Amino acid sequence: MSQTIPNDPFTQELQRIGQWIAAGQLQEAAQALNAAQERFPRDARIALLGVRLADKAGNLRGALQAARRAVALEPGWHVAVMELAVLLARQQEYKEALAQARHAVALQPRSAQVLRLAAAVANQAEDLEQAIIWAKTSLQLAPDDIELRLGLAGMLSKKQQYAEAKQAYEAVLQAQPNQGEALWGLLMCAIHLKDEDEAKRLADIFIIRFPDDERVRYWHAVAHGQTPATQPTSVVGDLFDDYAHRFDLHLVRGLQYKVPQRAAEILLAQYPDRRFNLLDLGCGTGLLGVYLGPIQGFMIGVDLSEPMIAQAARHNLYARFHQVNLLDALRDTPADHYEAIACLDALVYVGDLTPVIPNALRILKPGGCFIFSCETAAEDEADLVLRTGSNRYAHKASAVERACREAGFGDVQIEPLEALRMEGGQPLPGFLVTARKPAATA
Ligand SMILES: C[S@@+](CC[C@H](N)C(=O)[O-])C[C@H]1O[C@@H](n2cnc3c(N)ncnc32)[C@H](O)[C@@H]1O
Repeated sequence: MSQTIPNDPFTQELQRIGQWIAAGQLQEAAQALNAAQERFPRDARIALLGVRLADKAGNLRGALQAARRAVALEPGWHVAVMELAVLLARQQEYKEALAQARHAVALQPRSAQVLRLAAAVANQAEDLEQAIIWAKTSLQLAPDDIELRLGLAGMLSKKQQYAEAKQAYEAVLQAQPNQGEALWGLLMCAIHLKDEDEAKRLADIFIIRFPDDERVRYWHAVAHGQTPATQPTSVVGDLFDDYAHRFDLHLVRGLQYKVPQRAAEILLAQYPDRRFNLLDLGCGTGLLGVYLGPIQGFMIGVDLSEPMIAQAARHNLYARFHQVNLLDALRDTPADHYEAIACLDALVYVGDLTPVIPNALRILKPGGCFIFSCETAAEDEADLVLRTGSNRYAHKASAVERACREAGFGDVQIEPLEALRMEGGQPLPGFLVTARKPAATA
């Protein structure tokens, strides 16, 4: 498309059509585009305006078709190629989106705008490494792009590159001293970098501005070195809604997470005929169900995160799901209801077990078992520790065992696990508790 002459009458006509589309005058624009198409059927600019028109009309599929046509007409036109990449990413066709973004960057390697859009595509496709490279290159060419710098900071944080993320947030704040997202990002960096004074300073700013916000109150307490008894559901939700579609692959294959497999073995050893009802608290993507396979009873999943539940539902193993806080599910379920309750890798987000253990006992039928996993706090630590690096709670095994016995569980087995899974290349120690409710006496 290098031969475009900015002021020829046809270009001006196309510009006018573009303005109509932007202003929502879609009928007028469609008629003019059809007429233009008849005159110049091989002009990729018309196809590109077709993309904008279809998109504005909410017809994403039509927009995608038009973008493919524009690229077919002008395979070397970076604008059309990038438009196609962006639309593919919106359709969650990430593999092809990334390939087209790469192609557009190869066509225009010095265009800040192309690199910026390519970074957005890669970020959507969860290819953070590539997104960061493109965002940084774009910023070298356009250093005043504050929005992109903020995006880069977010990507670096997501990749846990907190020192670099901090620099990016600081650069944003130099340009816009009160930018809320950058201040919040900086607070998260300070907490993860264990810069206590800075974390306190920033958290104090937020608590004055938003004294009633549960998320602010939680992080304010953490920044001030306190251990909040539990994590607000909004903090947990942020994490898992984002994580749902890559959870299984990341955790099971990448981080060698084996807890659901082990819990399934224990449950099937106890119920070899598979006749039991199971309440899976914090069921996530339903890995426990997958390792158990079909059972002769109801499997009920509880989770805060709708995208995690959506993944679990795909297995067709769970009879029902409840998208609620597991603490509420425990409180509201009638007594003597389930043969088994599981809570795997979820109490690390719940923290205080005081409302958990007695309710689990109450809900179980006599002889039923509560099986749950915890990350290990050392015996010389507090009973409940919040690990600020990971923002997860660790529990002391002896305190958990005592709480189970005091609540009235009979047999309490604690199985130490050298590695719940890997974290930062190191095994993360934990333990699996199987606590049995005493059988009914005749
Ligand atoms: C690490 S995943 C584990 C999922 C599953 N149990 C497994 O072992 O694969 C933790 C899950 O617990 C859920 N979760 C955390 N806190 C919760 C709460 N208070 N109520 C309900 N679900 C919660 C999260 O949304 C997430 O899906």
